[in-house]
Amino acid sequence: MKRDNFGSKLGLLAAAAGSAIGLGNIWKFPYVVGENGGAAFILVYLLCIALIGFPLMMTEFAIGRFGQANVVDSFKKIKPNTPWFITGILSALTPFLILSFYIMIAGWVFTYIGKYATGAISTVAPADLANYFTSTAGNATGAILSSLIVITVTAFIVIAGIKEGVEKYSKILMPLLLVLLIVLMFRSLTLDGASTGVNFLFKPDFSKLTPESFLEALGHAFYSLSLAMGIIITYGSYVKKDQDLTSLSLQVTIADTVIALLAGLVIFPAVFAYGFQPDAGPSLIFITLPAVFESMPLGSLFGLLFFSLIGIAAITSTISLLEVVVSFVNERFNISRNIATFTSASVIFLLSIPSILSFSTLSEFKILGMTFFDLFDFITAKITLPLTGLLICIFAGWVWGAKNVLKEVYGDKEISPILFYLYSIIIKIIAPLSIIAIFLHSLNII
Ligand code: PHE
Repeated sequence: MKRDNFGSKLGLLAAAAGSAIGLGNIWKFPYVVGENGGAAFILVYLLCIALIGFPLMMTEFAIGRFGQANVVDSFKKIKPNTPWFITGILSALTPFLILSFYIMIAGWVFTYIGKYATGAISTVAPADLANYFTSTAGNATGAILSSLIVITVTAFIVIAGIKEGVEKYSKILMPLLLVLLIVLMFRSLTLDGASTGVNFLFKPDFSKLTPESFLEALGHAFYSLSLAMGIIITYGSYVKKDQDLTSLSLQVTIADTVIALLAGLVIFPAVFAYGFQPDAGPSLIFITLPAVFESMPLGSLFGLLFFSLIGIAAITSTISLLEVVVSFVNERFNISRNIATFTSASVIFLLSIPSILSFSTLSEFKILGMTFFDLFDFITAKITLPLTGLLICIFAGWVWGAKNVLKEVYGDKEISPILFYLYSIIIKIIAPLSIIAIFLHSLNII
């Protein structure tokens, strides 16, 4: 059977950038920047993505393109009859687990889109917005229904294939995301007092940089670039041989970073202009920003645009997560793409229920002191992600070999000795050691 391919460079870029640009760019990056010395932290982050994120993305694309198969078979093709395919299994497991709670969060976003569209949220007093969010997340039936909608929409796109599904919709959604972002940024930057927010984001303060900031920057670079979760390997398997993987990786990395900075220019000028405190995560999106919108003229409209922006960012990420699982089930078990999508989506949906109920019926049910949601988040973010990242570096640097990786990246082009040396040292030593540091730090060991 002939494998599907991305039809155009732009489509591929839209899909890969669509995966990279997600909730992390909007609810995390700008805040982390502001808290860690603004432009000083941005410099550190740029260093991390240039030195580690970008080479790793190139490596993952190369593994997938060489393998021309799902994550597990790609490893098998490169090193047959060795246990390295386990890295592929881990790479498929992570998106499977992440999706189970990512669809819940995306479901909250879509619920808020509905509340803005119908005007329901404008009747809530600003002081009640926190309770309003708790009761939205705590409404099990509503949350299950909205997750079902998210996974259904995702499955509908994935089932159509790479060219006719993933690529086609990314090419529509990503420009829309950019337009929304620019409109919102313009609104935010023209508010009185916007400059406090701009200063919060960009004013360099090197005294706020701590050793932790470095680990924070690196950890975020991995998550934000969708590394170590099978996505880039899987998308790489659909990239044609004549496509330049260096420029592709560079473009995705730049797009992801620029969008994250623009998101900061949407959020913080408005937050400060209306006298709110900066924040990150769900409370920023679902509590602080709705309060900001309530203070703003035409706030309901801007609220609707903002939540649509996040909705798009989330859907292009869920598509990429589901594609990893579907291509694995489809090819490994020789099941048609339709059935593979339907089965994977159904299992993921069922698995989302315990996470959803962590905010209502099962809120007191703890495993190792964590609710289901916290546990799934912990297992992926703190265990399987760094472990997969580490294994990929060891595999690429020491097993498959830096030379072979670069041969896949550059084809027949001559590879300069400096480039070879630089890449080797990064993939064999710098990247694995950094991942080990993040891993130990996130488990509070260092
Ligand atoms: N890279 C995405 C972000 O920055 C996160 C993501 C996570 C994407 C999981 C896909 C899968 O938010």
